[in-house]
Amino acid sequence: MAKKSQATWGGRFTAGPAELMLKFSESVSFDHRLAPFDIAGSKAHSAMLAHVGLITTKERDAIHAGLDAILAQITAGKFTWSTQLEDVHMNIEQALTKNVPAAARLHTARSRNDQVATDMRLWFKHACAVLAEKILGAQRAILSVAQRDGDVLIPGYTHLQRAQPVFLSHHLFAYLEMLERDRARLVEVASHANWCPLGSGAIAGTTLPIDREFTAKQLGFVDARGRPQVTQNSMDTVADRDLFIEFATACALFGVHMSRIAEDLIIWSSVEFKFIDLPDTFCTGSSLMPQKKNPDSCELLRGKSARLQGNLHTLLTLAKGLPLTYNRDLQEDKPPVFDSFDQTALCADVLAGTIAGLTVFRDRCAGAVADPALLATDLADYLVDRGVPFREAHHAVGSVVKLAETLQLPLDKLPTAEVKKIHPGYGDDWAVVFDLKRAMDKRRGTGMPGPAQVRKQFKRWEKLLG
Ligand code: ARG
Repeated sequence: MAKKSQATWGGRFTAGPAELMLKFSESVSFDHRLAPFDIAGSKAHSAMLAHVGLITTKERDAIHAGLDAILAQITAGKFTWSTQLEDVHMNIEQALTKNVPAAARLHTARSRNDQVATDMRLWFKHACAVLAEKILGAQRAILSVAQRDGDVLIPGYTHLQRAQPVFLSHHLFAYLEMLERDRARLVEVASHANWCPLGSGAIAGTTLPIDREFTAKQLGFVDARGRPQVTQNSMDTVADRDLFIEFATACALFGVHMSRIAEDLIIWSSVEFKFIDLPDTFCTGSSLMPQKKNPDSCELLRGKSARLQGNLHTLLTLAKGLPLTYNRDLQEDKPPVFDSFDQTALCADVLAGTIAGLTVFRDRCAGAVADPALLATDLADYLVDRGVPFREAHHAVGSVVKLAETLQLPLDKLPTAEVKKIHPGYGDDWAVVFDLKRAMDKRRGTGMPGPAQVRKQFKRWEKLLG
C-alpha cells in the first residue's frame, strides 16, 4: 500500500507516489547544483514579499537566516538530499520549514515553474561567465605559442593539400578569431538570460499584489543602467527553453572549433608532418607498441564535440511539439545543459594545457614551406603585374608546373629559356617570386598574412586578451 502523500502538493492525494515513480521522477540527483541560485531566488522573493507586506520583516529575516544556514550546510557537504522530496526546490523548502515556521509563507505567489526558470537564468549567467573565462585561458595559451614561434612560416592548406605560405602566428590567430566568436556568443546568451521570471507563477501570475521589479533588482536582472528587466508574458516564461538551446548551441559551436583545432594538432604532430610535438603530459602510450605516443587529448576534444552536439540535439527534440506551457518533459532539460557546461569547461582547460605545452619543430616547418610550388599563385600574380589577364596567367603557370613535373625539377629550378617559351609574359626575372620574404611582404592588406599585418594582429590580440 502506498503511503499518504507528504509532498508539498499532497493535499488532493490519497496516496503518495510509488517507489518506482519517486525514482523515476526525481531530479534532485542532478538539480541540486542549482542550490545557491535557488536560495538567492528565495531570498529575493521573500524580501519582495516583505516589501509589499505579504510577510513581516521579522518573517523575512527568519527566512533569510534559515536559508543562509542551509546554504552553509550544503557548501560544507553536510546537507542530506532526499529523492523523496523530488527536486532541489522542495528539498530546500522542506529543510527550511523544519527550522523556520515562517517558511510556510515563502512559496506565496510563486510556483516551481517560475522558480526553476529563475534558478536556470541565474545559472546561465554564471555558467556563461565561467566558460567565457576558460575560453579566454585557451586563447591566451594560443597567443603565447604565437609569441614564441609565430615567426615560423608553414604551408597553409586547402583540401589538406599544400596551398600557400603563412606565418604560424597567422594560422594561430585564426583559432583566436574562432574562440573570440565563442566568447561573444556566451556573452550574448548571458544577456538573453538577464530577464527575471519570478511573478509568472505556474502560468498566469498571481492575484496577490507582488512587485516583480523589486525581485528582479534584488537578483541583478537589470540592464546596463540598473533598470529591472522582467519577462513580459507569464505563459512564455514558464514554457520557454530557448536559452537552454542557445547555451547548448554556444557550447556545441565551441566544440566544433576545438575539434578542428585538435585535428590540426593531430595532423601536425604526425610523423608525416612533424611540425610540432605535443606535450607528454597530454598524450598517452600504447599498451602494445612501445614506440607510440598518441595525441589522446586532441582526439578526446574531437570526440567530446560530438557529445556537445548530442546535448543540443536532445534539447531541440525535447522542446519541439510541446503544448504551452510547462510540461514535466522539461525537467529533462537540465542534464544536457549541465553536461555541456561541465564538458566545455573541461575541454577549454585541456585545450589550453595541450597548446601551452607543445613544441614547434622550426626546421621541419622551414623544410615544408620551402616547397616552391607554394608560390605558384605569386607567379600568376607576377604575370598579372605584366598585363596578362588572370585566367590566362593561371593557365601559363599551370603549364610551368606541368613542365617541372615532366622534367622532375623543382618549380624554381626550371631553365628560364623553357619558361619563356610557355608564355611571352615571362621575363628573365620570372624566378624572383620564389622568395618567401618577398611573398610575405607583398601580402599587406587587412586580414592577410604579411608581417606588417601579423604585427598589427599581435597588438590587437595582446590588448584583447590582456
Ligand atoms: N523539477 C522540476 C523541473 O525541473 C521543477 C518544476 C516542477 N513543476 C511542476 N509543475 N511539477 O522541471
